[in-house]
Amino acid sequence: MMYSEKVLEHFLNPKNLGYILEPDGVGKMGDPSCGDYLHIYIKVKDNRIADIKFEILGCPAAIATSSVLTELAEGKTLDEALKITDDDVVKALGGLPDPKVHCSNLGAEALHRAVEDYLDKVKFKK
Ligand code: FES
Repeated sequence: MMYSEKVLEHFLNPKNLGYILEPDGVGKMGDPSCGDYLHIYIKVKDNRIADIKFEILGCPAAIATSSVLTELAEGKTLDEALKITDDDVVKALGGLPDPKVHCSNLGAEALHRAVEDYLDKVKFKK
């Protein structure tokens, strides 16, 4: 199985790895078929993703897709973040081998859940 250079770069040197103390939103997403599991933490300021971090138990492709996802999401408005798709993640990595395309699902969905978690909290506070 051949990975693109971009995948290897993000796998070997993941960006935004870690967690945020007192995050504004948390998104959790797992894939029961392979057991991989991802947490996304966000801080929101002025309706934008001001900070984003991830923790993962996963394969190289899941690590790379999560890392590149955080780069795509950082600084985006919440609406823009909700529109980031699995395809955007795969494209940003210069593609993924077919058996690994499912790994890109974790990131976008976990991000959307983190944004929704934040929006639910804001709604609840009103
Ligand atoms: Fe399942 Fe990578 S093998 S997310």
